Amino acid sequence: MDAVTKRYPDGTVAVDRLSLDIPDGAITVLVGPSGCGKTTTLRMINRMVEPSEGRILIDGVDSRQQPVNTLRRSMGYVIQNAGLFQHRTIVDNIATVPRLLGWNKAKARDRARELMERVGLDASLAERYPYQLSGGQQQRVGVARALAADPPVLLMDEPFSAVDPVVRKGLQDELLRIQDELGKTIVFVTHDIDEAVKLGTMVAVLRTGGRLAQYAPPAELLSDPADAFVEDFLGADRGIRRLSFFSSAGLDLLTGPVVPAGATAEEIAARDTGGAPRLLVTDPEGRPLGWAGPDTLAAGPVDAARLLSYGRPFVAGRDSLRAALDCAVLSPTGWAVAVDDTGRVTGVVSQQAIGDAIRTAHAAGAKTEGATGAEPDGTAGAGTDGMSGPGTDGTAAKAAR
Ligand SMILES: Nc1ncnc2c1ncn2[C@@H]1O[C@H](COP(=O)(O)OP(=O)(O)O)[C@@H](O)[C@H]1O
Ligand SMILES: [Mg+2]
Repeated sequence: MDAVTKRYPDGTVAVDRLSLDIPDGAITVLVGPSGCGKTTTLRMINRMVEPSEGRILIDGVDSRQQPVNTLRRSMGYVIQNAGLFQHRTIVDNIATVPRLLGWNKAKARDRARELMERVGLDASLAERYPYQLSGGQQQRVGVARALAADPPVLLMDEPFSAVDPVVRKGLQDELLRIQDELGKTIVFVTHDIDEAVKLGTMVAVLRTGGRLAQYAPPAELLSDPADAFVEDFLGADRGIRRLSFFSSAGLDLLTGPVVPAGATAEEIAARDTGGAPRLLVTDPEGRPLGWAGPDTLAAGPVDAARLLSYGRPFVAGRDSLRAALDCAVLSPTGWAVAVDDTGRVTGVVSQQAIGDAIRTAHAAGAKTEGATGAEPDGTAGAGTDGMSGPGTDGTAAKAAR
């Protein structure tokens, strides 16, 4: 978008000289308070609203040079409450665009069923009507319908705003997964900054009057808000939330303080506990049972009831430093328990060591930002792919958010 302005006939300037370079194959989020011009901006992309000034280039071509129907067909559109046709079944809702494109009914329905699976809808829902589905399920149908003709671009206007937080998190995770699998270019509108930070490869913060306040990868928004408006909009806990972008992979995990439930007194005495105030007892599969003091262990077979809770472990390497810190803060010993994907303990780490890792990550992040403006990563071996820019590293850290 190149200096795009929208002035409605009544004189309202909804969008004011907005310039944005929207990356291919990534999620770009437009976020800002109500009335700041998000919907107008989105609708100018598929020409449901015509810009008053400026140009919108798609793959370098002015969007006005394409017939508007061709343009719209290349862009799926998803809105809040899904906007489904109430008198059509789920499968026929999803098949709408393929049918308009002249596909025969069987082929369109096959495609619709394939998409139901893709968005996590059970096949048994195919012949139901929208009112027979929950809000979250309807929203999934909306996404499936938008994907039906396989458009390269998805435009999404507050698609998840009307569903409750738990369902919403599921829908967000699903969208990240779909994006990962299909590599669509997605422009996503929300007024929720947490949703923006979670989903966006790039985030455009708009202020009232349709003016761009900042356009940056989410980690950079959190570390370097452009001004007081952006800082205020980001809200509290900016520093803690930024830790979501740092992987826990580099943490130095200690195995000395981890003992199997049947360990003998001699084995325990021989342990180098690395300063841990207690020992973490594991079951025969290596899963955590709880923290024991030396006296508990000396007294013979471990009585699980006498162990201190190990809290909520983090998955080393997959979860972020934010998750690791949270584990340590919640742990009665101040030490976090790391597990692998199967729940087996891989080690323990102190709050102190996590703090050291955070300082190191911040220092490295500041260096990266200074050099390239890129998002600090911290995930070894998961670099950016160049095309969709910073943030695609996020698979590790994003999963943790
Ligand atoms: N058709 C319209 N005619 C006049 N003003 C409009 C029209 N649509 C939106 N607006 C105004 O433009 C501004 C931006 O609206 P909108 O793009 O819907 O914001 P958002 O989606 O961020 O809430 C608001 O002040 C809104 O009242
Ligand atoms: Mg809107």
